[in-house]
Order: sequence, then C-alpha cells, then structure tokens
Amino acid sequence: MKITSTEFVKSAFAEAHWPRLRLPEVAFLGRSNVGKSSLINTLLGVRGLARTSSTPGRTQSLNFFLLNQKFFFVDLPGYGYAKVPRSIRETWGDMATNYLAKREQLVLSIHILDSRHDPTQLDVQLREWLSANAKPHLTVATKADKLSANELQRNLRRARQTLGDGGEIVAYSAVTGAGRPRVWRAISEALDRLTIPLAKS
Ligand code: GTP
Ligand code: MG
Repeated sequence: MKITSTEFVKSAFAEAHWPRLRLPEVAFLGRSNVGKSSLINTLLGVRGLARTSSTPGRTQSLNFFLLNQKFFFVDLPGYGYAKVPRSIRETWGDMATNYLAKREQLVLSIHILDSRHDPTQLDVQLREWLSANAKPHLTVATKADKLSANELQRNLRRARQTLGDGGEIVAYSAVTGAGRPRVWRAISEALDRLTIPLAKS
C-alpha cells in the first residue's frame, strides 16, 4: 500500500479522547519493549513518528496515527512491565483492554513478540482472549536481525507451540525490513474485509 500521508492525531489517556472519526483501526499490542512503536515507524517509513525507547514502558497511552486520511494505526502501551504480573487485566492498563473490548472499528490486532524470547503467560492469555472474542489478529516476531536463521526458525517453532493455536508468526526486523511486505498484506486484507459501513459520527 502506498502511504501518502501520516499524521499523529492524539495520545488518549481516556475513552472520551478516542478519535470520533469512525475509520478502521489497526492496533499494535505486545509486551513492553518488544518493538511495537518501531514496527509502526518502519511499516510507515517515518522515523520517530511513534516514540521509541530502550527503556520499557515508553508508550503509556493510546496513540492514534491517521494514515492516508483513511485508517488509523493505534500504538498501545506494552504489558508485563509491572513488578508482579498477575493477569493482563491487572498489569496492563485498563485503557488497553477496554479499547480492545469496545472499539467496533478495530479491524486487526497485531500481536508483537520479541523473536529472541518465548511468549509469556500474558501473551498466551492475550491470544486466548483475542480468539475467544473473535478479534482478527496477526502475530509478528520482531528483532529477527538479532538471531541467526537457525535460531530464528527454532524460536518461531517454540513460540507457535507456546501460543498453541498453530497460527502463522511473521518474522520481522525494523533494521532490515524483513517481514514488511507480509505485514502490509495482512493490513490491506483487513481493511478490505471491512464490510460494516463506517460513517463519521
Ligand atoms: P514500549 O512502548 O515501552 O512498550 O516499547 P515498544 O514495544 O514500543 O518498543 P520500541 O519500539 O520502543 O523498541 C524498544 C527497543 O527495541 C528500542 O531500543 C528499539 O530500537 C529496539 N528495536 C525494536 N525493533 C527492533 C528490531 O527489529 N531490531 C532491533 N535490532 N532492535 C529493535
Ligand atoms: Mg512503544
């Protein structure tokens, strides 16, 4: 897809601040520091559009980016950064879970893993929740450039087993651009699938 315009619209700390425009949205979610914001920047080819950091917990609100005046990318805060994680609901901001549960125009959730590490219990819970609630999702394993081809294949196999649904995991690198065409294809398909007519409210 050709991106002709990118615009940071807002950082929402409360539901009342979610954009009123009823346009399709693609959400980026995963543990703190896995590379959600970097994935957004490199998919769009705009350095620094979404704030990134080597310190976990950089993104603390829902950040909405309007693309081509037609759809949004939504950068969510990472989960699993609390000291004693117990469940997604307790450790990950209510903001994020509330958004996922309620947002009607959410057409695709991109669940991001760090390809170096096994998915955590929170990743498994998130996956189960997405499946149980019939939310279309795509799993992306980032930082693939940090592993050899063999290590990557081994880790992807293990991650598939841990997540337990046998679904595809796209290997991605914000450094080399590997996986970028595959992720865009999934986004385009999700945008095309949207059948509910969305109008400005
Ligand atoms: P939070 O907002 O804190 O939850 O983090 P995030 O998931 O948005 O991660 P972010 O994009 O800020 O990236 C975290 C760190 O990982 C940064 O130092 C990035 O430069 C680095 N990083 C992200 N993606 C890649 C990648 O594909 N390869 C490499 N080598 N580094 C990456
Ligand atoms: Mg971030």
